[in-house]
Amino acid sequence: MTEESSRELPEKPPEPDSLPAGPILFYNETVIDHFMHPRNVGELENPDGEAVVGDPMCGDQMKVSIRVDNGIISDIKFKSFGCPGAISTSSMVTELARGKSTVEALLITDDDVVLALGGIPAHKKHCSLLGVRAVQQAIQDYLRKEKAEIDRVHEKDISGS
Ligand code: FES
Repeated sequence: MTEESSRELPEKPPEPDSLPAGPILFYNETVIDHFMHPRNVGELENPDGEAVVGDPMCGDQMKVSIRVDNGIISDIKFKSFGCPGAISTSSMVTELARGKSTVEALLITDDDVVLALGGIPAHKKHCSLLGVRAVQQAIQDYLRKEKAEIDRVHEKDISGS
C-alpha cells in the first residue's frame, strides 16, 4: 500500500466557500469523499415527492425521493446510476436540500453544488445538473400532489359531501 492510498480521508471535509483559482483538472478530496461515501443513499417508502431524471447524453440516471413536513424537506434519499461526478454532486445536493423549505430547495443551483464541493473538473460540470434537476422535479411532484389534495378537500367542502 502506498503512502498516498493509505491516507485517511477527513471525517467531514471542510465545506469551501470559494473555488480555487485556475482550471480544476482532478476530483478533489471532498468530491472523492462524497463519491466513496455518498450521503442519503436509498429510497423513501411512500415519499411525498419523487422524480427520476436522466441525462440523454451519457445515459446516467438519478432517482430522488423526499419527505416534507410543514413545508420543510425533513428527509431525502437518492439512487444514482451514474459517473463519480453524478454521484458526488447528487450526494451534495441532497445534503444542501435537507432541512430547507421546498421554496429554498427549489433555488439550489448546480453552481451551489459545485461550490459546496470545492469545484469539479469543467468537463464534469454537467453531471451536477442531474441531481439538481431530480431534486427540483421531486419538489414539483410534491407540490402537484399537495395542490391536488387541496383541490379535492375544497371540492368536498363546496359540495358538502
Ligand atoms: Fe453522465 Fe456524469 S457523465 S452525469
